[in-house]
Amino acid sequence: MAGGERAGDLLTTDAAAATPWRSAPEPGPGRLHEITFEAAEREMALFGPGDAPVRIWSYADKPFPVVRVSRGDRIRAEVHNRLPEHVSVHWHGLRIPNAMDGVQYLTQPPIQTGERFTYDFAPPDPGTFFFHPHCNESGQVGRGLAGIMVVEGDERVKPDGELILAVKDWRLGPDGRWLEFSTPQGASRGGTFGTRRSTNDQRAFAAEVPAAADLRVRLLNLDSSRVMEIGIEGAAAAIVAVDGHAVRPIPLDRSGQETWRMGPAMRLDLLVRTPKPGAVAKIVDYQSAEPWTVAALAATGKPRRRGALDADILYRPVFPEPDLAHAETLSWTFMAASDSVASFADAAGSDPAQRLLMDSLCVSERTYWAINKLSWPNAADRRLPPPLGVLTAGRTYRFELVNATPHPHPIHLHGHVFRVVSSSERARMPAYAADTVLLSPKERVEIAFVATAGDWMFHCHILEHLETGMMGYLRVV
Ligand code: C2O
Ligand code: CU
Repeated sequence: MAGGERAGDLLTTDAAAATPWRSAPEPGPGRLHEITFEAAEREMALFGPGDAPVRIWSYADKPFPVVRVSRGDRIRAEVHNRLPEHVSVHWHGLRIPNAMDGVQYLTQPPIQTGERFTYDFAPPDPGTFFFHPHCNESGQVGRGLAGIMVVEGDERVKPDGELILAVKDWRLGPDGRWLEFSTPQGASRGGTFGTRRSTNDQRAFAAEVPAAADLRVRLLNLDSSRVMEIGIEGAAAAIVAVDGHAVRPIPLDRSGQETWRMGPAMRLDLLVRTPKPGAVAKIVDYQSAEPWTVAALAATGKPRRRGALDADILYRPVFPEPDLAHAETLSWTFMAASDSVASFADAAGSDPAQRLLMDSLCVSERTYWAINKLSWPNAADRRLPPPLGVLTAGRTYRFELVNATPHPHPIHLHGHVFRVVSSSERARMPAYAADTVLLSPKERVEIAFVATAGDWMFHCHILEHLETGMMGYLRVV
């Protein structure tokens, strides 16, 4: 399809393409990290002292706590729920056993108010990830309930520094009170947008960075709805990982990719050569009418490095490569729901496992969206639907994803890393892998992956879209 562009038609630096890509050494036995999360409401001045206090929801004493481990380490995370609604922790992008995937009703019972649940797993892939609950996401993540996970172990060459940038808009009124997180107008279109933009809970994020140094930037789009188009001004930079997984460096300038689009849930790792002392580099979102500065990096101190940026610092990723020659192809169309939409409930029949009562927080009042004409149930029918499809573990699947709507949709598959193979919009495609792929209006994208056993959610990551129908799951047996 799409003219048969080759994923091998790479946009990389010649130097990187010429050198063989080294694999990371196998990790040692690793450490055990015992973590406790208290999911609770906390009052804090979100944008710093001087701002009206906001009642945020968070897993720790601030929004977006960072969990940092190394590949080979094990995490035991006990979650205690002090919120008035049930929660879970879904570890977005991590290829971990299905029972640890954190999807209420599908992979675990909800963690009810006052209850505890312990997650126990070893993240297999290094990279930049995040975590969040999986019911009433627009309301819970909207109030800040999410966190960041960094899995180290992908750096062949150490950069001079690192910066995490978490971007999110907040739906706050001028008095610091929450506005409605979901609206029919937003949910049925591109999403309900926040009123205040932020990076790392600051309105205008600025940091001092060492001059002429190589800085690794881990950028996360943790917003519910916003699509960004990321570029850089005043510094040389290259994309070194997408959704956590290393790529051969893709220069973020006219010689490669000028900008990179990031929908909700997507991550981008950059290596930035910071400017000379006194100069400021800016990471910019060009998607909005007025370009918005994600971060201003002011260079200080003695210059650290000379010569051109060599961004080839990461090892090759470790996820299983799909076998495209023996792939089975399945096609999924992301569409508006219509009156003729088939209800999952009809298909569920009398299978008692499918008739589990669902909580009203996992479904919405309304249905606007569907995948292949099937919509996630709404409040009128709270049964767990049957899977969208049944796949065989160990096989390679090629998915054709078709956006039949006039809105962008970041499509996410749990528990897997997929190669993005082709796009109807892009003749030349850098070789990269992801867990979430942004479909532009009317775009058709092909992805490929090796299926792993479990029930894995498959949905749009605009939170109001998954809550109003654009969600299902795949059963891999
Ligand atoms: Cu961040 Cu169901 O995913
Ligand atoms: Cu969507």
